[in-house]
Amino acid sequence: MSKETVLISGGAGYIGSHTTVALVEAGYDVVVIDNFSNSEAGAIEGVEKILGRKITFEKIDTCDKDALRGVFERHQFNTVIHFAAYKAVGESMAEPLKYYQNNLVSFMNIVEMMKEFNRPSILFSSSATVYGDAETLPVTEQTPRQPATSPYGNTKQIAEDILRDCCRAYERLYGIALRYFNPIGAHPSALIGELPRGVPNNLLPFVTQTAAGIRERLSVFGNDYDTPDGTCLRDYIDVVDLAKAHVAAVDRMTAGKMDEKYEIFNVGTGSPVSVLELLTRFEAVNDLKLPYTIVGRRPGDVPAVWADTSYANKVLGWKAERPLDDTLRAAWAWEKRIRNIK
Ligand code: UD1
Repeated sequence: MSKETVLISGGAGYIGSHTTVALVEAGYDVVVIDNFSNSEAGAIEGVEKILGRKITFEKIDTCDKDALRGVFERHQFNTVIHFAAYKAVGESMAEPLKYYQNNLVSFMNIVEMMKEFNRPSILFSSSATVYGDAETLPVTEQTPRQPATSPYGNTKQIAEDILRDCCRAYERLYGIALRYFNPIGAHPSALIGELPRGVPNNLLPFVTQTAAGIRERLSVFGNDYDTPDGTCLRDYIDVVDLAKAHVAAVDRMTAGKMDEKYEIFNVGTGSPVSVLELLTRFEAVNDLKLPYTIVGRRPGDVPAVWADTSYANKVLGWKAERPLDDTLRAAWAWEKRIRNIK
């Protein structure tokens, strides 16, 4: 007997595909929608291969309200996980309207449909980016958010606020925002993983593409920060652990166990890792050498951010478990598989 059905927007994406797998493995049924704007049908095939069965998938753009209404008419579910969004910080600076349009319209459409169809629970993909350059570390959910430094980051803050206000105003609506730290890695099967288009902005895809010979060398952005080795500190969370945090949050919502109508959880490991440490571990566990150069700081980077995860550990009963070495092996296994490297 399966538990209830969950609608997953952006379920073909990096975090969405891993979460789809985790939810089905936990006994949920899923309806996945995606417009493939930054993902591919192959991700759905990978998910189905891992699960050994077909899943319900519809190619839908969440910005298209009528198409989205059709999904709500055709399928019964109480919970929605909303991943579908653009996520490139630099692009959001160059094309802010594209980001506000897509990320906010799609989110508001989802909330509006939930209201219209009386569907109660929504889980929103937020980001540690809302903390900006925090005054105290590690950050707890109470650490004040800093003004967003990019339109992308601003869409996360605004969507959090929309969710908070709607949960307050609409009696039936309950919301959880998960603030992801730095998701990395891939499913142990190497059938799904991160698939950035063009030149990757994030560190680990750049690392794996450099190891694969697609990029000549990695640039380390700054080694003059006030950190132990001078490079930035981040909280790298394995994408499979991150997916399981969604299952814990959905369990909490569907069991009607929420303490507040709108709750926020940090999803990280709680351990800071520097850029150089990450590179060195990657080289060691995968037995290879990465060409890299130290260059200047990247504008907009904060020196350090990592999570206090005690609230999520206690309330969600969830904890990051996968050792960093395994995550780095999985990231490389995935890159090798998609590039046909032996
Ligand atoms: C970035 C975004 C953040 C977004 C997140 C999504 C910025 C400023 N922040 O976080 O808003 O939510 O991605 O995953 O873009 N690094 C290098 N060389 C590289 C790439 C990165 O040294 O080629 C360093 C960065 O300086 C940083 C660390 O690696 O210290 C992690 O970078 P990245 O993976 O881009 O994540 P964030 O910047 O933390």
